[in-house]
Amino acid sequence: MPDLPEFIFDIDCDVTPPSGMEALLARVARHCLAAEGVTRPCCAYLLITDDETIHRVNREQRGVDRATDVLSFPSAPFRPGRTAGNAPALLQREWDADFKACRLGDIVISMDHVRTQAAEYGHSETRELAYLTAHALFHLMGYDHMQEKDKEVMRKMEEKALNAAGVSRVTDDELVEKAKEAMLFSYSPYSKFKVGACLLAADGRTFTGCNIENASYGATMCAERTALFKAVSEGAQSFTAIAVAAEKSMPWPCGLCRQALNEFAPELRVIVACGDERDEAPLSVLLPHGFGPSNGTGEYLGKD
Ligand code: THU
Repeated sequence: MPDLPEFIFDIDCDVTPPSGMEALLARVARHCLAAEGVTRPCCAYLLITDDETIHRVNREQRGVDRATDVLSFPSAPFRPGRTAGNAPALLQREWDADFKACRLGDIVISMDHVRTQAAEYGHSETRELAYLTAHALFHLMGYDHMQEKDKEVMRKMEEKALNAAGVSRVTDDELVEKAKEAMLFSYSPYSKFKVGACLLAADGRTFTGCNIENASYGATMCAERTALFKAVSEGAQSFTAIAVAAEKSMPWPCGLCRQALNEFAPELRVIVACGDERDEAPLSVLLPHGFGPSNGTGEYLGKD
């Protein structure tokens, strides 16, 4: 992401966050800055904690005696109508020499609330955490939702940033459901291991695929690559998540599929499902030190 502004999260974590969270939240934050038109590097403190601690902070700092999902404490005193994008001097005053970035403020998020809200909305904890982080960052940049019209503006900004960061509104439940439907088309008379996949493109389109076996076994194609190749052949090259479903066991993608997906989306969220069981990991965790386009094979070939 060379043309996105820099963002540094100074994170404290009291509880276990979803895997791969730091990279995702940094990406979301950079897209929040870009959506707001901020070009300077920025930073913020983020405490990921539980209901008990957020309740205490809410009581002590705001006099509100209850737990909540997210709290934000802006550094810069933006007046109504002023936000980070249209008040660069205010932002500049918050320059933090240690972080070499403008300090936007502090955020506290309760993972207890993240968990219950994710279940309520039928999406992942990662998505809920990303949403709450974007919401808090826009508060830190001067946005509010007291009036209906302000709320609308703030929601639009959140959506713009989250979509650009690839945290789409298509829920994980919908992706898994589509993967399960695609599984019904599996052609797997040899292994009898049916697999279905649903790949979510950054533009919100979804592409499904199933495994397609062959009497010459090596000609078999996995569900994930079927979905990927369908997508690329229809013009999509940027992806945010894939759901893979199977009947017999959790279908973590094979090595070949990890490599193929890494070409287009090294930060892809990979969700696997079998019956009611569900798990998730970023592709960068499934394929550490992956070899991809940034390894510069083109330049190497060019020199020879
Ligand atoms: N398979 C997939 O479709 N995806 C995977 O990630 C693992 C394996 C298929 C290929 C073959 O048709 C069957 O599962 C058994 O290996």
